[in-house]
Amino acid sequence: MPTVTEIRDRTDDTPITMLTAYDAPTASIVDDSGVDMILVGDSVGNVMLGHDSTLPVTLDQMVSHTSAVVRGAEDALVVADVPFLSVGADEGDSIENCGRLLKEAGADAVKIESGDHTVKLTEQLVQLGIPVMAHLGLTPQQVNQLGGHTRQGTTPEAAREILDLATEHQRAGAFALVLEHVPSNLAAQVTETLDIPTIGIGAGPACDGQVLVVNDAVGLSDWTPPFVETFGDVRGEMESAIDDYVTAVEDGEYPAEEHSHHEDELEDIY
Ligand code: KIV
Repeated sequence: MPTVTEIRDRTDDTPITMLTAYDAPTASIVDDSGVDMILVGDSVGNVMLGHDSTLPVTLDQMVSHTSAVVRGAEDALVVADVPFLSVGADEGDSIENCGRLLKEAGADAVKIESGDHTVKLTEQLVQLGIPVMAHLGLTPQQVNQLGGHTRQGTTPEAAREILDLATEHQRAGAFALVLEHVPSNLAAQVTETLDIPTIGIGAGPACDGQVLVVNDAVGLSDWTPPFVETFGDVRGEMESAIDDYVTAVEDGEYPAEEHSHHEDELEDIY
């Protein structure tokens, strides 16, 4: 398993790979593929729990999903997302909440959607031994403030703010930075400026690594953002397998003899 310091200090040219997972079997498949990091994203809210944003996701849900991923993964570094309002309101609670993801769930690090309000918190967490991955650009927990899941950093002022915040979070001790849905030339400048790796999603090829939601990557989602490439058709495979199952049951072909067992002494029990 790569450690956070190995991720932070990685100098080779091979891009860092990260995918989300929310349960043990998916984590095991993702882990077997050799990804560097698994993100237990609060995207679990939209992707797995049927919400239309990440806002309803609770810390208890993140602890539960993160524990499952930790049980399924052997090698990848597991990063747990900190859900909406679990940091920011109260300093002590913010630290306790992040701590639960390591103490109870077994995550190796937390990811925090970042802003001015998370610079000092990042420094405190790192000092206490909680590695922090920062997240700038499109931060979905701000969806109501942003007016949608829209592109970020598209004006010189907005781009400069992202670059400044990225530098501040590096100084505060973050070991990596997710950049979401920002122009590729901004991501390239942030990547060039920072010593810590940038992990892009919808941020172009210049980042030091890439992350995708696993359901999007394998073709299980019924909708994907415009920057997603789909590398399989798991939805199609599931639909076809489920259709086959329903047909087999309806036609009386399943279960067959080989799926059943018979006990002679149970003949004539009445
Ligand atoms: O919650 C999530 O899955 C994320 C990634 C999309 C970066 O934050």
